[in-house]
Amino acid sequence: MISAIVVYSNTGNTRRVVEAVALQLGATLTTVQAPEVRPTPFAIFRLGFATLFGGVTPVQLQGPDYTKSDLLILAAPVWAGRVAVPMRSWLATRPPLGPRVALVMTGGAPAASATAFADFAKRAGITPEASLYVSEAAAKADTFGASCDRFCSQLAARA
Ligand SMILES: Cc1cc2nc3c(=O)[nH]c(=O)nc-3n(C[C@H](O)[C@H](O)[C@H](O)COP(=O)(O)O)c2cc1C
Repeated sequence: MISAIVVYSNTGNTRRVVEAVALQLGATLTTVQAPEVRPTPFAIFRLGFATLFGGVTPVQLQGPDYTKSDLLILAAPVWAGRVAVPMRSWLATRPPLGPRVALVMTGGAPAASATAFADFAKRAGITPEASLYVSEAAAKADTFGASCDRFCSQLAARA
């Protein structure tokens, strides 16, 4: 099974989680880059607003070609209860996604937001084969191993 991950991560939490997933599944990592997204308080406020009101930002992909994979994992943080603007912006370009797609999200909240996952799935135009949520605290403390293992086993079982 050839697995690929396309990830957007602003402060590194989502990236940390998918690096562990990539290691387990032998997946490649391709990054959504958003050069205009800056971590200043005003920019963060504006981004929260943009998330709520459907804004987009210029993005580019960096990394290996994900389109040749059997399984694609999309990963992004929760912003304002939805999928982060840069991932949404990339999905709005209608990129080619194969039949097997799984989702990973990280967020400040301790538990997964059904609304955020539903938004992610809707914008990707897919029904996810599996989903993994890791809280920001667990990502930083590196305590997401068990849920990461379950997610990877679920995907590997359907290979
Ligand atoms: C603009 C913005 C909005 C956010 N909104 C939410 C939210 O609605 N719910 C939540 O649980 N976390 C929210 N967060 C926290 C991020 O989802 C969390 O810090 C995540 O782990 C960041 O991932 P990253 O390090 O890969 O960028 C928000 C963060 C930012 C910057």
